[in-house]
Amino acid sequence: MALTAEAVRNALQNVMDPELGKDLVSLEMIKEIGIDGGRIGLGVELTTPGCPMKDKIKGDIEQELKKLPGVRDVEINWTARVRATPKLAAAMPGVKNAIAIGAGKGGVGKSTISVLTAVGLARDGVKVGLLDADVYGPSIPKMVGLEFERPTVNGDRIVPLTAHGIKLMSVGFLVEPEKAVVWRGPMVHGLLQQFLRQVEWGELDYLIVDLPPGTGDVPLTLAQSLPMTGAVIVCTPQDVALLDAIKALKMFQQLNVDILGIVENMSYFRAPDTGKEYDLFGRGGARKAAEKTGVPFLGELPINISIRESGDAGTPTVNFEKTDEATRTAITTFVRNIAGQVSIRNSSGEPGLELKIT
Ligand SMILES: Nc1ncnc2c1ncn2[C@@H]1O[C@H](COP(=O)(O)OP(=O)(O)OP(=O)(O)O)[C@@H](O)[C@H]1O
Ligand SMILES: [Mg+2]
Repeated sequence: MALTAEAVRNALQNVMDPELGKDLVSLEMIKEIGIDGGRIGLGVELTTPGCPMKDKIKGDIEQELKKLPGVRDVEINWTARVRATPKLAAAMPGVKNAIAIGAGKGGVGKSTISVLTAVGLARDGVKVGLLDADVYGPSIPKMVGLEFERPTVNGDRIVPLTAHGIKLMSVGFLVEPEKAVVWRGPMVHGLLQQFLRQVEWGELDYLIVDLPPGTGDVPLTLAQSLPMTGAVIVCTPQDVALLDAIKALKMFQQLNVDILGIVENMSYFRAPDTGKEYDLFGRGGARKAAEKTGVPFLGELPINISIRESGDAGTPTVNFEKTDEATRTAITTFVRNIAGQVSIRNSSGEPGLELKIT
């Protein structure tokens, strides 16, 4: 019996996307089926270019198709199209997803994680913007090496700056950083509205929003003005930091912002000379907090001197190119897990997670 595209399609209905929990055909991920004797050529469209499950999906496709009589070879042409958060389109046309990076307290690495996430996603080949919503203490300009740059204005629109493959906007581009502390509630509201509506973000797969510490006017205004895809909570492993993470979870829950998961920063320190790992603050605390609250654990980031140095020098790409392999893997893991969680939310069409916070 000759192999038909229909038989291939039927077989692919048995291959599940392990994260999205549905088969590749109903997820509309199969874009092309070509048959040449015993060879099958497939066009498969992933929902994130750095999909952490790509190898697993490939293996499952091959296994399923090789059950069909006469199939010798399967060749896959991978493409990616990031799915959009439907409710976001009306508020920010062209922007598919908006992800807030927050924490209950200061100095845990929100801005560092925001920059690494934005640059990491862009390096996987998608369009990314980074909005520094820390209007009180903007640190993104320095972290990306644009401390003394100013954006241009095009009519009543602000053209964002670009660096390291991402588009950027920060109040630090408009005023001296030390003058940025005086905003009152209504001014914060006005500023953020401008950043969302008057900046020429263009087409973006992801807009990453770096929040100031805590639970003040900024997350409130953002949640009211922008139906965000979800929030990522950053915390360090100590007990106090975890209490703060729970506080942040509760805040987002009250604001009706879905929680994409928790990243643990400064999890451990790996000595560059011996490779020995030291769990300075009790590694794994955030994973436990995530399990307890029913929130996805997205990954951990070690304390690494190159992360601190590159933050000060405005050279984030160093962390993807020169840093030790374990740290690079840690970064790619949480970045791709964030994108994975976004895909899950956008493919399920279901409301967000039920948090088990008591
Ligand atoms: N994993 C890490 N390894 C080394 N240094 C780090 C790491 N994460 C953050 N840092 C450093 O810690 C400092 C604080 O980080 P960052 O500014 O990202 O925190 P934040 O939560 O955004 O702070 P704030 O609440 O002030 O906005 C920075 O100097 C940063 O370079
Ligand atoms: Mg910050």
